[in-house]
Amino acid sequence: METIRVIYEGKVCELPVIVGTEGEKAIDISRLRQTTGLITLDPGFGNTGSCTSAITFMDGEKGILRYRGIPVEELAEHSIFTETAYLLIHGVLPTRQQLNQFSVLLNDNSLIHEDMQFFFQNFPRASHPMGIVSAMVTALRSFYPELKINDEEEINLTVTRLLSKIRTLAAMSYKISRGHKVIYPRPDLTYCANFLNMMFDNPVRPYCIDDTLVNALNVFWILHADHEQNCSTSTVRMVGSGRVNLYAAISAGIAALWGPLHGGANQAVIEMLEKIHREGANVRDVILRAKDKNDPFRLMGFGHRVYKTYDPRAKIMKKMCDSVLQKLKIHDPLLDIARQLEETALTDAYFIDHHLYPNVDFYSGIVLRAMGIPTNMFTVMFAIGRLPGWIAQWKESRDDPDWRLSRPRQIYVGPAQTHYLPIDRRH
Ligand code: ACO
Repeated sequence: METIRVIYEGKVCELPVIVGTEGEKAIDISRLRQTTGLITLDPGFGNTGSCTSAITFMDGEKGILRYRGIPVEELAEHSIFTETAYLLIHGVLPTRQQLNQFSVLLNDNSLIHEDMQFFFQNFPRASHPMGIVSAMVTALRSFYPELKINDEEEINLTVTRLLSKIRTLAAMSYKISRGHKVIYPRPDLTYCANFLNMMFDNPVRPYCIDDTLVNALNVFWILHADHEQNCSTSTVRMVGSGRVNLYAAISAGIAALWGPLHGGANQAVIEMLEKIHREGANVRDVILRAKDKNDPFRLMGFGHRVYKTYDPRAKIMKKMCDSVLQKLKIHDPLLDIARQLEETALTDAYFIDHHLYPNVDFYSGIVLRAMGIPTNMFTVMFAIGRLPGWIAQWKESRDDPDWRLSRPRQIYVGPAQTHYLPIDRRH
């Protein structure tokens, strides 16, 4: 095995080099502090691997994303969301029988306890649905408390409950925020069709389920299903490392996803495009603002910590956006603005030099708008899609014999020791 030798104050430490399936390399520093007294410092973890993982591979330079070895492009073309969820969680594609069983279980567990409806009633009407869904996922633990972390059957039941009920919770939060009647899940509908129906059916105008939208939703959720050790997934792993129940770990992941630099970017993109449209702003001026270091404005939906080329999910999303709008004969002026922004940015030296390309969020909001999803629900849509990934990552860390409590260190730069001053001697 290749090693790297660190010599510090006469102490020698041989650090093994770990090599991944695709040739990516890491220095294993787990013995560094013990041998030399040194720790590493890497704000934002841009150079730090937190685990080894067999779930998702991405290459940010080449624009590659694979779940369990399968390119995301193939899954988006041939799979459906529940099948991809099974793949991520169980490690292999299901047989027809396994997929049918999985679908039956998802159907059987789609209802939520009637008493949970009362919680919804008491959130202020203007509450953000991400806060509601995060709180309700934690609340599920009180209604379905039988989780034993190492009992496989119970974990599978909890996993199924989470996957199925999050849809119901999300649709309920929307209906109640509108003051509309809650629509129950239907056993005759597929996962995605069921969600759209719960969102948009109503007693006076039955919802007509459109295959184009069902297909678009399948692709949207497949593209969001996992993305290795991003902010929310690392949160799920870190919170989970305290051996908390799965509901609480997932709820923490939902909260982490909410931020505009992470999952909240899909909402921020549409708000940005709407503002440009409303104000009739010139696209070139928007690009100038994004480049101005004295202006906090950033081009939302552009840039990524790992991808230094076009995000492969954004490519699929852009194509899907075009085809959905064409099929439904929708003309969305925001799509024109998005295209112009992309064209201008991709030929601009700043964006080229900084390797800034559209990420998954740049076009996804336009697809969600075409479905009728309100802007403040966009990040909830992302959360539903990411759920299988969070679960798979949590399971993987739970199955790791070296699963340790996550506990980073720091370099303290505060005051040296000082003493307590009684209040009457302070000015
Ligand atoms: N617009 C303008 N400039 C940008 C943008 C952007 N969208 N993104 C990065 N930059 C610039 C920064 O100003 C910085 O410039 P400098 O080196 O000259 O100071 C440089 O590119 C590097 O930026 P960082 O913030 O250090 O890069 P980091 O890897 O930390 O950030 C991030 C990645 C947060 C995604 C960033 O690109 C961003 O804020 N994008 C907009 C928000 C967004 O779309 N987020 C969704 C990401 S995908 C997801 O999480 C699902």
